[in-house]
Amino acid sequence: MKIALASDHAAVNLREKINEHLKSKGAVTNDFGAFGTTPVDYPDYAVKACESVQKGENSLAILVCGTGIGMSMTANKMKGIRAAVCSDTFSAKATRLHNDANVLCIGERVVGLGLALEIVDAFVLTQFSNEERHQKRIDKIINLEK
Ligand code: RB5
Repeated sequence: MKIALASDHAAVNLREKINEHLKSKGAVTNDFGAFGTTPVDYPDYAVKACESVQKGENSLAILVCGTGIGMSMTANKMKGIRAAVCSDTFSAKATRLHNDANVLCIGERVVGLGLALEIVDAFVLTQFSNEERHQKRIDKIINLEK
């Protein structure tokens, strides 16, 4: 599985830790930055990572900023992207099972490192349930893109 990563300046540390963690588990990552702590605009980085998911270059993306919220707002404007901000493992698992979310957003200023890595694992290791009732609801979200 290939996973895109991106952050703004507020979450460089968490993005780097997530990258190390995923690589140590054998995942292939595609890191879009930001590289350094000079202030940048989170939409620019969310778009880079999400475009790679839209093109099929990466299966999932993990976006981190101060809260995870700006990243998710940006990502959810993009066709085919279903992004969820998660601060707990239950939601991270449920959004894969029920919503087939392909983008996880986390806030470095919200969640501690240990929990953040558990959220990442819950998200990455859970597959969409493929249940008809969930697919029907996702199709209604997809219809809004038309
Ligand atoms: C940057 O200060 C902060 O606004 C950003 O990281 C994020 O929290 C936005 O949603």
